[in-house]
Amino acid sequence: MKPLNPRAEGFPDRLVESLELQWSDLEGLLRQKPYLPSTIKAISDHFMVRKGEATPWHLDGVFEAYLAYFHSLNTVRMTSVLRHLKQRLPNLSANTAIDFGSGLGATELAWSDMFPERKLEWQFVEANPTVSVWHEKLRRSELNLSDEALWHKSIEAAVKADIFFSSYGLNELDELPKAAIGANIVVLLEPSDRYHSRQLMAWRQKLIEQGFEIVAPCTHQQGCPLLLNSKQDFCHDRIPLIKPSWFQKIEDQLPIKNDTITFSYLIATKDRPEEFGSPNVARVLGDTLREKGKTKQMVCRSEQREFLSWLKRHGEAQFLPHGGLVEIPQQAEIKGSEVRVGGITINEVES
Ligand SMILES: C[S@@+](CC[C@H](N)C(=O)[O-])C[C@H]1O[C@@H](n2cnc3c(N)ncnc32)[C@H](O)[C@@H]1O
Repeated sequence: MKPLNPRAEGFPDRLVESLELQWSDLEGLLRQKPYLPSTIKAISDHFMVRKGEATPWHLDGVFEAYLAYFHSLNTVRMTSVLRHLKQRLPNLSANTAIDFGSGLGATELAWSDMFPERKLEWQFVEANPTVSVWHEKLRRSELNLSDEALWHKSIEAAVKADIFFSSYGLNELDELPKAAIGANIVVLLEPSDRYHSRQLMAWRQKLIEQGFEIVAPCTHQQGCPLLLNSKQDFCHDRIPLIKPSWFQKIEDQLPIKNDTITFSYLIATKDRPEEFGSPNVARVLGDTLREKGKTKQMVCRSEQREFLSWLKRHGEAQFLPHGGLVEIPQQAEIKGSEVRVGGITINEVES
């Protein structure tokens, strides 16, 4: 049996609790709401065709379809991102947060699962007032009433907070909001397409100029090698998804499969993150690429665009999980953009 990729992510407990409060019988969800797959497909088509346009909250059945599918998957994505934050900033101090483009509250659910002891005072920024009402109702059943939060229709109304979050919320913006620059920690999650990911990579540089240090995915503060040396590449993550059976039943009726889910993300801080144990720690940026005579996988540890490469004559290539961290041994030979590692064991490092 293939070993489970250690980066696989399941549905966080807090998310499952929230969905059970909403629907009690998740296994019977499709019997109760047979229209879910077609509405999910309509929303997904909208996002594919009209990249960067607003969420189609006007469609019939959109609340349930968004909650069951997009909100669930974005909560899993944010959980994976927060795992990096927790590992690199174990002593982070934060009391207040802004969630820009908060939708149905995927960010807070992921946070409360990953940091159950650290309650935050939330300001949710959501342009669509109907969505804010749905979110507020959901939240009142999920969390106890003492957890007060504020909703704003626009970011200008928000007051400075310790953490600025946005999950699939910056789509339509040309500039990073001032509230992000004013925060101590910035956590951005965006779709894994060329446009959004390269925009995130450009914002990374702006955050560095504003005194932030990048916590993840980057292992360095130099220029972004994909922006500097390529017009096509885009930095994104891919994690295997452990699917509950009720979600699998919905997916069985969709043309979209989520055995792995992808996303782009960026975590930046004005504090000092934990140091890596070695200067040769690199992020695995790509899937395994098989070429004639060799296997390659893109990695990032500096502003050089680099690939680990295994020549066929040196035996089997190692499979490295996309998005994970590895340590590149000193003795690896460098040939152009290739770091030849055939016959050398590459060790994974905890992020
Ligand atoms: C794709 S949804 C993401 C929702 C949620 N964060 C998630 O991860 O599931 C983007 C949300 O941002 C809201 N939005 C878009 N532009 C906005 C703006 N300029 N100010 C406030 N909210 C905005 C939309 O109404 C929508 O609810």
